[in-house]
Amino acid sequence: MDPRERIGRPVETISTPALIVDAEALEHNLRTMAACFRARPAKLRPHIKSHKCATLARRQLAAGGAVGITCAKLSEAEALAGNGIEDILIANQVVGAEKAARLAALNRRAVVRCAVDCPANVADLGAAAVAAGVVVPVLIEVDIGMRRCGVPPGDEALALARTIARTPGLRLDGLQGYEGHLVMTPDPDERRRKVLAAFEPLLALRRALSDAGLPCPILSGGGTGTYDITGNIPGVDEIQAGSYALMDNHYRKVRPEFRNALSILATVISSSRDFLVADVGLKGMGNEFGLPALAEAPEARARYIAEEHTPFDGVSRPVGTKVRLIPSHGCTTCNLHRRLWIAREGRIEDVWPIEAAGCLE
Ligand SMILES: Cc1ncc(COP(=O)(O)O)c(C=O)c1O
Repeated sequence: MDPRERIGRPVETISTPALIVDAEALEHNLRTMAACFRARPAKLRPHIKSHKCATLARRQLAAGGAVGITCAKLSEAEALAGNGIEDILIANQVVGAEKAARLAALNRRAVVRCAVDCPANVADLGAAAVAAGVVVPVLIEVDIGMRRCGVPPGDEALALARTIARTPGLRLDGLQGYEGHLVMTPDPDERRRKVLAAFEPLLALRRALSDAGLPCPILSGGGTGTYDITGNIPGVDEIQAGSYALMDNHYRKVRPEFRNALSILATVISSSRDFLVADVGLKGMGNEFGLPALAEAPEARARYIAEEHTPFDGVSRPVGTKVRLIPSHGCTTCNLHRRLWIAREGRIEDVWPIEAAGCLE
């Protein structure tokens, strides 16, 4: 059956497991984030790694306060560009001659920036851009304490900026610093203090680069846990928050102003007096941040997640009942599905393909 033929029917008629988006919760989240950026110098560049859906990306842009889209992988950028998104930041390194050529080719149809932190990679990207007859815009990724990617914010960053400036085919568009190690800091005051401190060296680097004749028009960073802190730092231009749109039970601990819009519709396939088994497991639900909750019975406790089963203790439902699980991590959950079912007042309102599901390269 064509999924669109189900539009207008009750949500419970969807074959399970299925990813459900509560339209009202999503709209609340998009409104809340857009309101924060509409009147600020900094703008939003929503990260789509969480949902990987072009329709939702377009909704994030339409909500306001946004200048473009962020993604994690080249193949995600290709999926977005093929679906009408024209200003994209790949907030990661694109490494190797083959991918450099694909990035250059992509820049023929959209503005697609990527992060760089290594001279050899800069040389590859430049060669590919020249071969394709395009200019590839890049941001230098600076390590502001996460110890994942990025150069330190001192001489090495300055030297890399000079290398980029003399590499034909490339344009230095700015700097990226991602404070991923701070986004879940539970205490809001401590989070603010640490974020402000982490960005200081990056802002100083931007000034030093400008003094050296290497202006950086864009300074990009931030996540859902820090959007209102990082987005308020003078000199920060773009915020890469993404999880806010759909949310999950992990992030809600520090960001209760956003609602859980994402759930997994599942069927009770077995039940006894004091437990039930839902027909979704690891193959349909991320679990790195813990076990899921049961929307209909928050007091129930998931025992574990197996490949295709999740047993919940302390709850019982007749076999065949549809239940909704709130995943601990939305990002890895969406990657496992092919469509988002948009639900309003218990009925299916729309179906959005998850174009970039499985786009890992
Ligand atoms: C480079 C980068 N920017 C921004 C984000 C922000 O995402 P979120 O909204 O999930 O905090 C992430 C998350 O992994 C990231 O890796």
